[in-house]
Amino acid sequence: MSELVSDKKDIQRIKTYINGLDENMEGGIPKGHVVLVSGPAGSMKSSVAFNILYNEALHNNKVGLYVSLEQSYISLLNHAVNMEYDLDKVNIVVIEDLSKINQDIKKIKEENKGTLVLADIGTIRKEIKGKNIEEGAANKGWLNVIKNLIKKIKLSAELDYFVLDSLSAFYVLSKFENPRIELFHIFEFLRDAELTSYLISEMTSESEKYSEYYVEDFLSDGILFLNLAKFRRQIIREISIVKMRTTKCNNDIFSLEYNNKEFKAKFGGQNPLL
Ligand SMILES: Nc1ncnc2c1ncn2[C@@H]1O[C@H](COP(=O)(O)OP(=O)(O)OP(=O)(O)O)[C@@H](O)[C@H]1O
Ligand SMILES: [Mg+2]
Repeated sequence: MSELVSDKKDIQRIKTYINGLDENMEGGIPKGHVVLVSGPAGSMKSSVAFNILYNEALHNNKVGLYVSLEQSYISLLNHAVNMEYDLDKVNIVVIEDLSKINQDIKKIKEENKGTLVLADIGTIRKEIKGKNIEEGAANKGWLNVIKNLIKKIKLSAELDYFVLDSLSAFYVLSKFENPRIELFHIFEFLRDAELTSYLISEMTSESEKYSEYYVEDFLSDGILFLNLAKFRRQIIREISIVKMRTTKCNNDIFSLEYNNKEFKAKFGGQNPLL
């Protein structure tokens, strides 16, 4: 959010499309926020982020860029099909070859539908390796690759949302000498680009922080924490809003369910947590 508002009604909010959660955060995440989506393996971080971009494309004709560093676009889309998303209802554009970016970007507004741009950096990395270019040399430029992708899309189309899946994988590719300074500039870049961003952070359930360097916890505008909790002989999925700037929220731990094509957050006091 870069503009000063005089009335709280003027704060535009983006739904998380998690039924029960938006109602507990004044309707959603303020537009332009950079939000960490943190949690352990399998806690549905990618699914929650994908779900927001998919629904914003479907209902509001928006354009979202989902940058996947390790999971291939095929694996991501198969997962979405298994979750019964109707992928024909949105325009899906895959970027898996950097030399064809311009052709791919042209497809963004080809159809009169919202668009989900999937940038499959894992495949691009494998291609680079196949061409015998030293990955280390290419790695130095990964941040620029992502920034340029955002800039290029914004030049010829609109871009509303950005997902980085994951921040943790990104750190393996780009070693930071001074994380506090470099991360500050990355967060500012996303805010200046007027994107509402979701940065996926892989953290264990026991972790006291929500990001690798810890500074991201403070630099981000919001943190959604997804967790897997043991309850009797079951693993329960949980979600909580750890922080959300400019928002009065309920910080309870909700249980998270995905049923009938919809995410639901339920109060801790309700089933299945008695
Ligand atoms: N149709 C479905 N309904 C409910 N849950 C599903 C369905 N299909 C897959 N899942 C669950 O989704 C989980 C994986 O979700 P997702 O890939 O979003 O998690 P993640 O936190 O991003 O995982 P990772 O850390 O491996 O990237 C799986 O553990 C699987 O059990
Ligand atoms: Mg994931």
